[in-house]
Amino acid sequence: TARTPLMAGNWKMNFNHLQSIAFVQKLAWTLKDVQHDFEQVEVAVFPPFTDIRSVQTIIQADKLELEYGAQDLSQHDSGAYTGDISGEFIRTLGARYALVGHSERRTIHGEDDEICRAKVNAALRHELVPVLCVGESLEEREASANPADVSIKQLKAGLADVTPGTEIVIAYEPVWAIGTGQVATAEQAQEVCAALRGALAEQLGEETAAATRILYGGSVKPGNVASIMREPDIDGALIGGASLSIEDFSSIIRYRS
Ligand code: G3H
Repeated sequence: TARTPLMAGNWKMNFNHLQSIAFVQKLAWTLKDVQHDFEQVEVAVFPPFTDIRSVQTIIQADKLELEYGAQDLSQHDSGAYTGDISGEFIRTLGARYALVGHSERRTIHGEDDEICRAKVNAALRHELVPVLCVGESLEEREASANPADVSIKQLKAGLADVTPGTEIVIAYEPVWAIGTGQVATAEQAQEVCAALRGALAEQLGEETAAATRILYGGSVKPGNVASIMREPDIDGALIGGASLSIEDFSSIIRYRS
């Protein structure tokens, strides 16, 4: 099965409203200028909740095949959950994706595997594709014989209720490589991504495992993306810092040229 590479920019809480609008407008022009073929490389941005509507409006006005998603979602559908945003609210804004279990959610907001499992299910209930983020900390990497152990455990727990054939995306983000400039080597990333594909095959069958995109995230830059993308089990990148620069992000998207 052919897996279309996905380049996903996670803005985190970096852009204010005007910066979000300016960025996505510039991205739209840039991708039009270079006649980007979205069937060759899919591109998605993950704005803060409050800017998803504006991003939708710009993308629609430009008739761009750019995709977008939310950085998080509630595991609940509706009710007394002050401050939470449901999958339905996000889907109504035309979003295709929702990140689940980004390491910043896991560490800062204490989201454990059970919450991630509920959020994956909530995304799927509302026809959003969950992008389940997994990855080990430096201490965990040093303490375990197999660097993929932590990620496999998080994957199995997060996907516990998912059925074969369901579209999901996995993002392997070693915590020690996020925002540190310390990128995992292509071999290190491939090793864990291959192990994750094996775990997917065990849980959901070979066919689903072969069709599921596994992204690498952690200090991806224009200078290292090509070598990462050459690895057979890496199908794209989840980009933080470098997704905030139009030059860097568009050069990452065009990693083939
Ligand atoms: O979601 C993106 C990741 O956390 C990677 O962030 O590219 O700034 O290291 P980074």
